[in-house]
Amino acid sequence: MKRVIELTINGSAYDVVISPQDLLIDVLRQKLDLTGTKKGCGQGDCGTCTVLIDGRRALACLTLAIACEGRQILTIEGMEKHGVLHPIQQAFIDKGAIQCGYCTPGMVLSAKALLDEHPAPTEHEIKLGISGNLCRCTGYVKIVEAVRDAAARLQAAADCGKGA
Ligand code: FES
Ligand code: FES
Repeated sequence: MKRVIELTINGSAYDVVISPQDLLIDVLRQKLDLTGTKKGCGQGDCGTCTVLIDGRRALACLTLAIACEGRQILTIEGMEKHGVLHPIQQAFIDKGAIQCGYCTPGMVLSAKALLDEHPAPTEHEIKLGISGNLCRCTGYVKIVEAVRDAAARLQAAADCGKGA
């Protein structure tokens, strides 16, 4: 039976009519037109559909939308602020870590979850942090470089904020 639930996505509340079995990936893309979250395998293997729920990585293709009521969902659309890309997004561009781009939204969100928890990750921690996200184009080297660069940018911004 369909019902209306409220989802909080990128800081905004959305009322959405769903069935209990509706998956978050389909609600985001088909009902809310938030198509930045990509669907790859649809069965939990590729990480392409990664979003953050209450700050933690989640696979939108395995998550029931109804289970997200009352929780904070962050999608790639919520990373940019006032027309300025998030430093992680900018680092991916500057380091050439994007080719076809299909894996990028999920990679960026996994990187955010990692850097929120480990602001100065080792290479091993970066590899672990993105280990659930498959990329068939880049060979990962530039993605690891981008995450390292993003960590430096975020640290510099934090240091700057402290001095202000
Ligand atoms: S689409 Fe969700 S893990 Fe592949
Ligand atoms: S850039 Fe194409 S899959 Fe990663």
